[in-house]
Amino acid sequence: MKIITTIEELRDQLSGQLRTAFVPTMGNLHEGHLSLMRLARKHGDPVVASIFVNRLQFGPNEDFDKYPRTFQADVEKLEKEGVYVLFAPTEKDLYPEPQEFRVNPPADLGNTLEGEFRPGFFTGVTTIVLKLFSCVQPKVAVFGKKDYQQLMMVRNMARQFALPTEIIGAETYRADDGLALSSRNMYLSEAERAEAPALFQGLNYVANEMRAGHLDIFQVEHKAMEDLAKRGWKPDYVSIRKRSDLQPPSAGDLAQGAPLVVLAAAKLGSTRLIDNLEI
Ligand code: PAF
Repeated sequence: MKIITTIEELRDQLSGQLRTAFVPTMGNLHEGHLSLMRLARKHGDPVVASIFVNRLQFGPNEDFDKYPRTFQADVEKLEKEGVYVLFAPTEKDLYPEPQEFRVNPPADLGNTLEGEFRPGFFTGVTTIVLKLFSCVQPKVAVFGKKDYQQLMMVRNMARQFALPTEIIGAETYRADDGLALSSRNMYLSEAERAEAPALFQGLNYVANEMRAGHLDIFQVEHKAMEDLAKRGWKPDYVSIRKRSDLQPPSAGDLAQGAPLVVLAAAKLGSTRLIDNLEI
């Protein structure tokens, strides 16, 4: 595997490649990321991964400085997956001057759910993703469904900017007890790790209620949040949305059986976890 830090060298290395499959990451790789690499391999060749902890998507009180950086271990894992190039730029390589041009995500998708609780997050994500796409020029790029809203945001951006990159969503990789794998799980204490699957259980409760025809959305969401709070969580949201645009479903949408997804974000101790489940 070639480890490349500069945009120029990356362009040289990938020039003439027409089927590049790309997986952007912020490192601290776990099985979930590796499953994205495997899916990428099915859709293109060569597979290119990136590791870049993107300051632009972290709020002032978020964990940019303490975000886990495990570069050597990550390299070994990517090598085992047969990744061809790891693009691992420094901040100076990627932001040699302040990034003044930024993507401005649409308000209806950008200011809801994660966007409401993490102002500026999606501007940071879409800006770096657009820039990475410009560097790698991939034919396909793989994003996990665990970050459901991020996946939709990137997909919509690619479509509206007519980017020549197909966006592929990968199923969430879960531990045996249901907890979605995430780099932030490593912040959990032993007791918190034992409690953490309750978030996915809450999503299943909501999904089962909806499937059973219990259509009072507000009540179901409220009960799921209350149950989490009783167990010591601080939920930001448990929200049932339409899969098509992540907006709340109307009574008409429900009557017509619009495909739904339930999304949740909650803090356990000082660790904020997110997860979702298609209904
Ligand atoms: O999902 C992530 O790890 C990040 O948001 C991404 C897509 C690599 C952009 O920094």
